[in-house]
Amino acid sequence: MNHIILIGFMGAGKTTIGKRLAAEMEVPFVDTDELIEAQAQMKIRDIFSEYGEDYFRDLETLTLRQLLDLDERMVIAVGGGLPVRRENQTYLGKLGTVVYLTAEASTLEMRLEGSTTRPVLKQGDLRAQILRLMKARGTIYEHVAQIKVQTDQKNYHQIVEEIKQYV
Ligand code: S3P
Repeated sequence: MNHIILIGFMGAGKTTIGKRLAAEMEVPFVDTDELIEAQAQMKIRDIFSEYGEDYFRDLETLTLRQLLDLDERMVIAVGGGLPVRRENQTYLGKLGTVVYLTAEASTLEMRLEGSTTRPVLKQGDLRAQILRLMKARGTIYEHVAQIKVQTDQKNYHQIVEEIKQYV
C-alpha cells in the first residue's frame, strides 16, 4: 500500500506533524492511539491500568491489521511502542512508506515534561525513562523506517516540507 506512516519516540511529533502533513496532502489522517481509544471507549492510561500493557499491545496489532484493509491513501501516526513487535514491523512494511521522526533526548524531555497520558513514562525520572526506551527502540525504528527526519530545532512547517520531498 501507499500510506505514509510516522513512527518514533513519544514526543517526536508524530500526531501533530501527521495532522498537518495529511491536511496539506488532502488525505485522511489516522492515529493508532486514537483508534484504540475510540474502539475500546477507554483512555490508554486506563487500558494499561485495568488490563495491562500486553493487552494494549494486542490492540495495537489488531488496529494495524484493520488498517491493512483500507485502500485510500492516508497518513498514519502510530504509538511509540508499536514498531517493537516483530509482527507489527511486517504490517508497517506492507502499509507503505515508514518515516521515522527523530529527536534528541533533551528535546523529548522538554516536550514530554508534565505529560500525564503516557503510562510507560509513569515511573521514576523522566530523563532516565526516555534514555532507557530510546536505547531499546532506536535501532528498531532505524530498521523499520525508509526515511529519517530529524525534528530538533525545526518548526512544523519545515518538518512537513521535508517529509513531502520524500513521499
Ligand atoms: C507508547 C506511546 C504512546 C501510546 C502509549 C505507549 C509507548 O503513543 O501508544 O502510551 O510505548 O511509547 P505516542 O508515541 O503517540 O505518545
